[in-house]
Formats: sequence, structure tokens, C-alpha cells
Amino acid sequence: MSASPDGASGLATLALEAAEAVRSRLGDLRPAVGLVLGSGLGSLGDEFEDEVRIPYDEIPHWPPVGVVGHSGTLVAGLLEGVPAVALKGRAHLYEGHSARLATLPIRVLGALGIRALFVSNAAGAVNRGFKAGDLMLISDHLNLMGQNPLTGPVVEGDERFPDMSVAYDARLRAVVRDTALAEGIPLQEGVYAGLLGPSYETPAEISMLERLGADAVGMSTVPEVIVARAMGIRCFGVSCLTNLAAGISAEVLSHLEVMETTERVGGRFRLLVRSVLGRIESEP
Ligand code: HPA
Repeated sequence: MSASPDGASGLATLALEAAEAVRSRLGDLRPAVGLVLGSGLGSLGDEFEDEVRIPYDEIPHWPPVGVVGHSGTLVAGLLEGVPAVALKGRAHLYEGHSARLATLPIRVLGALGIRALFVSNAAGAVNRGFKAGDLMLISDHLNLMGQNPLTGPVVEGDERFPDMSVAYDARLRAVVRDTALAEGIPLQEGVYAGLLGPSYETPAEISMLERLGADAVGMSTVPEVIVARAMGIRCFGVSCLTNLAAGISAEVLSHLEVMETTERVGGRFRLLVRSVLGRIESEP
């Protein structure tokens, strides 16, 4: 019988088998940093040196990704001299994957030995002081997805009750802030609310999120950070605010607008992330 992601040893086995398949193609490379590249932000994965590209469908057990703008490739190599592995495209819970399976890629990155995880996403701006096109350093999150990827039997090596009081590492966040300042890249900072989707929010929901302390809203990232924290991996991340959230502007939301904005600010995003990696070489 093949292993199932629902069981504890099953999920660990699937992750190890997937990691082994990846490792066998990486040669001497030992990635220290993992990057999850969100909607429209994947082109950073085309800037690696000595790159190895592995389409997701060549990795056993990998959850399929099915959104326009996600190409579904693992890219490993050197970025600013740092051995790194990037995920171009991610599985979302709204595609119907269980949170345990959707976060298998994070377990694979952990098994490959990453010590820090950078997460990125496209998100709607909830904070009225923010604009479409702003980049936002994630200071914390609200898990409003109705699911937690750690439910079920505890996976070997995980904390059962991981501390989330500093889910987004304070030192790595400081590096991102310092880097943005040094590069002259405007950077907001705030709380990311993760909702299940796939429908965008109603204005009433955005008004609720505002009161709950959210600065941005999206449909990803939260499960990945929860799993990474359970594995003891330090996390940090940036949201690309692609639109004002529902009701904050009179405009109708569309995935096309999301993709157009990431295209417009992608250069700034890539410069920030590359420059941060150059600075954390000695950190993780
Ligand atoms: N809401 C949820 N997810 C999103 C949004 C939004 O406004 N923009 C980009 N991803």
C-alpha cells in the first residue's frame, strides 16, 4: 500500500521520497534558503546560476498546481552566491488539496536542509494607507483559512504545539527592512490575513479584517509558515499588494489585475529579494 498524507509516518515518507528524487538531481548543491514565489513573482526563479530545474510533475507525491501565472517548477542553484531552492508556483487550499498535502513541498525543502524560508504572495491591501503596487514585509499573520496543516497525527520531527509568537523571524525581518532602505525600495510592513478563497472577499469581510488588525489579505502562505515553524525553520516574507481589497476601492477585483501589478513591480521585488539574500549569506 502506498503512503498517505493523512498518516504521520505516511506524510514523512512521502516528503523523504520526494526530497530524495530532488536531491539526486542537485549534485553537490546543498540549499540553505528556500523561496516560495507567489502569483506573478516566479521570474526570480529564472535568475539562478548553475540552475537545476525540475518540473513538479517529475517529483513524486508533489501536489499539482493549477493557477494561471504559476508554472510549477522547482529551481535550485545559486542566487547572489547563496545556495537556494525556489518553488515557482504553489498548491493552494482552494484547489481542494488538504492542508497536509498542500504543504508537502515545505517538508521537502526542510528535508533538503534549508535553514530559512522566504515566502511571497500577491495580496490585496486592507490597510487604507497602502497602495496597489506596494511591497509589504509580513510582520505576522492571521490564520483564517479554517484549516491548520498540522492537524492529524504528528509528523516525526515536528513540534506538536509550535510556538507562533515570532512566526516571522525578527532578525531576518530587520535584514529586509535595512536592505529596502539601502536600495531605496519603499517597503510597508504589516499583518497578512490568510483566507481560503477562491472567491475574493466581500466589502463586509474586508471591513471585518480591518478591525481584526489585518493589513493585507490573500489565499496562501499561512499553511506554509505554520509547517516551517513546526519544523524549526526560520521564516520571513513579502507580499506584493496587487490591488486595494474589496470595498476599499470602487474597482472590481480580477486575477488579471493581480497579474498586471506583479508584472509592474516584479523588478523591485526581485531586486529586494536578491539583495536580501546577499546580506543573509552569513545569517541563516
Ligand atoms: N484578496 C485575496 N487574495 C488576493 C487579493 C485579494 O484582494 N489580491 C491578490 N490576492
